[in-house]
Amino acid sequence: MSQSRKLDHLKICAGMDVEFQEKTTLLEDVHLVHDALADISLKEVSTAAAFMGRPLKAPLLICAISGGVQEAEKLNGDLARVAQKLGIGFCLGSQRPMLDRGAPIGSYEVRRHAPDVPILGNIGIQQASAADPAEIERLVTSIQADGLAVHLNPAMELSQTEGDRQFRRGFETLKRLTRRMPGKIMVKETGCGISRSVAERLKKAGVRTVDVAGAGGTSWTRVEHLRRGMDPSRRTWLDEWGIPTAASIVEVSPLGFELVASGGVRSGVDVAKCLLLGADLAGMALPVLRAHAAGGYDGALSFLARVIDELKSVMILVGAKNLTALRNHDPVITGRLRQWIRSRDSRFRRPIGSRKRQ
Ligand SMILES: Cc1cc2nc3c(=O)[nH]c(=O)nc-3n(C[C@H](O)[C@H](O)[C@H](O)COP(=O)(O)O)c2cc1C
Repeated sequence: MSQSRKLDHLKICAGMDVEFQEKTTLLEDVHLVHDALADISLKEVSTAAAFMGRPLKAPLLICAISGGVQEAEKLNGDLARVAQKLGIGFCLGSQRPMLDRGAPIGSYEVRRHAPDVPILGNIGIQQASAADPAEIERLVTSIQADGLAVHLNPAMELSQTEGDRQFRRGFETLKRLTRRMPGKIMVKETGCGISRSVAERLKKAGVRTVDVAGAGGTSWTRVEHLRRGMDPSRRTWLDEWGIPTAASIVEVSPLGFELVASGGVRSGVDVAKCLLLGADLAGMALPVLRAHAAGGYDGALSFLARVIDELKSVMILVGAKNLTALRNHDPVITGRLRQWIRSRDSRFRRPIGSRKRQ
């Protein structure tokens, strides 16, 4: 990816309306049942979790945003320090510049800022298909990451004039990567979600960790259209394409992945809803980028600390002392999410929404 494209993305996402307009995450159809007699004190509430073999203080991941440009060095350094301070995970932006240009690893070299939390590298499936697996492994080892996020983004490629039009070899590539780096590959979408059948293929390819990155938050096709100078008041069908995040969680969660839910997660309430639909962690990109753009390290820190505080408040209000108890809380599901589940359920042996119980 060219440096100017990455810079354009950062600018457009920080300042323009880049989210889905009509399509939502469907998290609004998940209702938590209030417990007026919760027998808990705030001090007892634990949000302890784990990801990629490391403990977390809260079930959160800062999703892939940037890397490879000078501006990303400060951003990634700050976000890594925020992740370390809060005990949450951090996924770097695409390392394509390292592959294409042998660009210096500076902006990806964040381990020194975050020695104790999970850090993931990042590459697109198209670049991973074209590269030698040893080169891909070096993306992880050279920055002492715990694993690699491999992103799938066919809709985004189609919306770019210079994007790929050849989407073959993804499955074979993932099989090769999981054989070479078992337990270290996370497959993520970039805002269009993962369906049950894709998740089944990921399972067969040996993938153990998935980020659904569903629809309802940042629309990457919209970002690309804005970058090409499209009138911001116009929307195309591609801008609204994808599986809503909540629907994607219920499709994928019965398959037993280590599961991250991102795409339009914007608050501690959203995080709680994702967890009780079956996710292990929730992730955010756009609001973290914007909080950092507005207030630097302190801005990102206080935004994410607020999300964690809100999650703890929700846990008290549903009577859950820890995340296991939260996941066992039965939500009420209404509206379009309920319809989605009904319409998809009969197609699968393991019913949609049959989330793992702990
Ligand atoms: C400015 C920006 C840059 C992004 N760059 C990447 C990237 O390099 N690699 C990737 O896998 N996803 C990238 N994403 C996608 C996010 O990781 C995430 O999957 C998606 O934006 C949905 O989350 P959100 O609604 O919280 O933004 C980027 C998102 C933003 C906002």
